[in-house]
Amino acid sequence: MEQMNLFFLNLLLVLPVFYFVLEYTRRKFSNYPPGPYPLPILGNFLNLHKPGHISLANLAKVHGPLMSLRLGAKLLIVGSNQAAATEILKVNDRVMCGRRIPQTFEAVGKTFDLVSILAANKCNESWKMMRTIFKTELVSAEATENKSVLREEKVKVLIDFLSNNKGNVVNIGEVVFSTSANFVSNLLFSKDFISIQDEGKVGAAKEHIREMERLASCFNLEDYYPIFKGLDVQGLGKKALKCIESLNACWDVIIDERETSIKNGVISKDKDFLDALLANGLNKDQINWIFGEVLITGVDTSSGAVEWAMAELIKNPEAMLKLREELTKELGEGTTVKDSDLPRLPFLNACVKETLRKLKFCSYPPGPYPLPIIGNILHLSSNDTAHVALANLAKIHGPIMSLKLGERLLIVGSSHEVATEILKIHDRVMCGRPVPKTLEVLGENLLTLVGAKSCTENWKILRGIFKTELVASEVINSNATMREEKVKELIDLLMEKVGKVVHIHDLVYTTAANIVSRLLFSQDFINIEDERKKINLVKEVEKLASTPNVADYFPIFSGLDVQGLRRNTLKCRENLYPLWDAVVDGRKESIKSGGDSCKNKDFLDVLLANGFSRNQINWILTEMTITGANTTSAAVEWMMAELIKNPEAMNKLGEELAKEISGNIVRDSDLPRLPYLNACLKESLRLHPTVGLVLRTATETCEVMNYTIPKDSEVWVNQWALGRDPTKWEDPLVFNPSRFLGSNLSYMGNNFEYIPFGSGKRMCPGLPLATRTVPLIVASLVHSFEWYLPDDTSPHELDMEEKLGLILQKSNPLLLIPKLKALEIRI
Ligand SMILES: *[C@@H]1O[C@H](CO)[C@@H](O)[C@H](O)[C@H]1NC(C)=O
Ligand SMILES: *[C@@H]1O[C@H](CO)[C@@H](O)[C@H](O)[C@H]1NC(C)=O
Ligand SMILES: *[C@@H]1O[C@H](CO)[C@@H](O)[C@H](O)[C@H]1NC(C)=O
Ligand SMILES: *[C@@H]1O[C@H](CO)[C@@H](O)[C@H](O)[C@H]1NC(C)=O
Ligand SMILES: *[C@@H]1O[C@H](CO)[C@@H](O)[C@H](O)[C@H]1NC(C)=O
Ligand SMILES: *[C@@H]1O[C@H](CO)[C@@H](O)[C@H](O)[C@H]1NC(C)=O
Ligand SMILES: *[C@@H]1O[C@H](CO)[C@@H](O)[C@H](O)[C@H]1NC(C)=O
Repeated sequence: MEQMNLFFLNLLLVLPVFYFVLEYTRRKFSNYPPGPYPLPILGNFLNLHKPGHISLANLAKVHGPLMSLRLGAKLLIVGSNQAAATEILKVNDRVMCGRRIPQTFEAVGKTFDLVSILAANKCNESWKMMRTIFKTELVSAEATENKSVLREEKVKVLIDFLSNNKGNVVNIGEVVFSTSANFVSNLLFSKDFISIQDEGKVGAAKEHIREMERLASCFNLEDYYPIFKGLDVQGLGKKALKCIESLNACWDVIIDERETSIKNGVISKDKDFLDALLANGLNKDQINWIFGEVLITGVDTSSGAVEWAMAELIKNPEAMLKLREELTKELGEGTTVKDSDLPRLPFLNACVKETLRKLKFCSYPPGPYPLPIIGNILHLSSNDTAHVALANLAKIHGPIMSLKLGERLLIVGSSHEVATEILKIHDRVMCGRPVPKTLEVLGENLLTLVGAKSCTENWKILRGIFKTELVASEVINSNATMREEKVKELIDLLMEKVGKVVHIHDLVYTTAANIVSRLLFSQDFINIEDERKKINLVKEVEKLASTPNVADYFPIFSGLDVQGLRRNTLKCRENLYPLWDAVVDGRKESIKSGGDSCKNKDFLDVLLANGFSRNQINWILTEMTITGANTTSAAVEWMMAELIKNPEAMNKLGEELAKEISGNIVRDSDLPRLPYLNACLKESLRLHPTVGLVLRTATETCEVMNYTIPKDSEVWVNQWALGRDPTKWEDPLVFNPSRFLGSNLSYMGNNFEYIPFGSGKRMCPGLPLATRTVPLIVASLVHSFEWYLPDDTSPHELDMEEKLGLILQKSNPLLLIPKLKALEIRI
């Protein structure tokens, strides 16, 4: 298996070169119709990014009514106007009468010498004969007339069965399936296919038929890349063969019996389809295939519709009552319904139509058309701006969309209604989180706060400890001095850099990391002077955790580490964990020697007291440093960038600070007296929410906005788009802090048009700390210095490009020059 995968990958690497040469020569010397330029290997698959017919219509506007496209190695010609259609379907009808059969069934065809009504790949004599038999025996007007008696008979069997089962639980889908299957099988060979009582057999047959449908619609590499022909890399051929064999076993006996009785000269008075086939000299394998084809196309769809209609009627008792009334009125009590009664039952017809209409919607939400294999991955992966791409797609497909990421289903919500349904109404079910497989190398059952796959009991305990020990309001209040100290260190450092260009994110990163590490284990993590080495280590872990792992989306890769992510993660751990080990060992020593019993307890003490393992503590420290430091520094960077870009807001903030702050140091206790600062924070978070997308997974199948969300799908809420929704915000793209003055709107996760910290069970646990740290830092920066852009760039030229990793950050780092404020303010 592994070798196969490697072979596959190598192929992907080598093929493009050949391909370009080939395609170039082909284009040059052939006379194919014009068309979009195909990519290597993929060809024009990517041009088909909406439902096929719409994409093709749009392409035709560019390339003309007759186009050529390439799907893998296959050439596809598309006609889009009357002239082209006439040439294809009339003038050249005879030549163009082939039809594509998926390679999946090639193996079946070889074994059984396939003759087919629907899937014939050429119109040779055998096919013409089949079609004639089919037309005269099954779908001619006279045959249809006769079928009604048969249909009524089969329905009566169903009704009798149900009468005998009064008071018992009945699987409607299965009994209707057998009714419908027997109706078809009686047409084919005058016998019931399955007994209505035999639940096991009905279930098995239904499964086989479903599987065949699935296989028929599965994308098969071999259809488009001849290089794979016969290899059956996806195993579809093998599955099809097995499935067909089990199906054939169902009617082998019947065909044998009939052949024998014909041989013995027994002639039934009513000839059926099987007689006609035998009379035309078809062999058993061919007949098997035809039966399969007719059953697959005819049975499951109709029984499925009945099941849905019954479900709807049960769910809507009013409609059920009305239907009963109509039936009683038109037919009288206790009669059976006849085929000929149907035209007199308008409400029944309306129910059927409504069911079929709903069936179309009662499915996954709409979304862009997925490509084979990769799904919609290309819709997302362009230059780290998935949140923007998704917001744009939502404008086309609506506030709830579905996309395919490889083999995973992704649901994206982009309006406050959908956000409410996902994060409030279905919060419990949607409490999972997609976590890259990469992190699994760090240990099985590794307990993680932000990256937990589901809300287990242990996770709840850890979150509880976190909340009481680190972010409870008494703790936050009593730790204010520590935060002020760290911020003062930052301001002191900046004093030395007055007039020089400084990298805001990196400086603040150190401060934020040390605030977190003081809380965790009462030491600075990073020396503010020598920033780089440790910062880079932590950033490396962040990068690994935020890189999508192909194995998450393509299970075929799950045993491999094609991107080297696991290897790198392990390497990174080797460098990072010794730092924590030193801290933990030191603490254990001093606990043993009873050294600092008078010292205030910190988070590490609590973890040790709760018996967390070494590996576990190391990871918790890593995780909290990552999430605490980068989010805080990103938020400060965005807020400063917005203030620089909007000098009016900056001035207003400066005035507020000058008025309210006595002396030159901003204190935590000043914050409640700074409403404009608070409004600036809220406005900055509206435009630049820290994580951009709220990531969840559905732990059970559930229904959102009347769409089905299957278990294990990823569910994202685009909080970035919510903050910029023009129906909820006036001038959504303008940075206008005043909109929050005198407004009740809070980031606590109850107003779903504004959820910069998420909402519900998985809401950002660090919120209380972040909303005290970020404004304190920004206020101090603004109160102590005037800020300028380097190279005399004017404020409105400052770019605000975003990049989405684990968190949403500025694409180009904010570089600023601090200058001292007028002398009289500073002492
Ligand atoms: C018609 O084509 C099918 C398969 O494509 C083949 O099995 C069959 O023998 C052909 N019949 C005739 C009469 O050539
Ligand atoms: C239709 O039914 C009549 C009488 O039952 C029978 O004679 C006739 O052959 C049937 N026709 C078909 C196409 O089955
Ligand atoms: C991202 O890529 C698209 C085209 O693929 C381009 O139009 C857009 O400007 C790019 N954005 C950034 C931020 O580079
Ligand atoms: C934070 O506050 C808690 C609770 O008052 C205290 O135990 C802890 O020592 C404080 N941490 C720091 C770094 O001030
Ligand atoms: C879902 O369906 C129910 C009943 O058909 C309807 O009342 C409700 O408005 C629908 N909800 C949405 C969000 O469309
Ligand atoms: C804020 O909320 C309170 C009660 O929750 C309400 O009385 C008040 O009108 C609200 N103010 C605004 C500006 O919405
Ligand atoms: C954290 O911040 C730095 C910017 O200095 C960035 O390079 C890194 O990618 C960030 N990490 C994440 C997960 O966004």
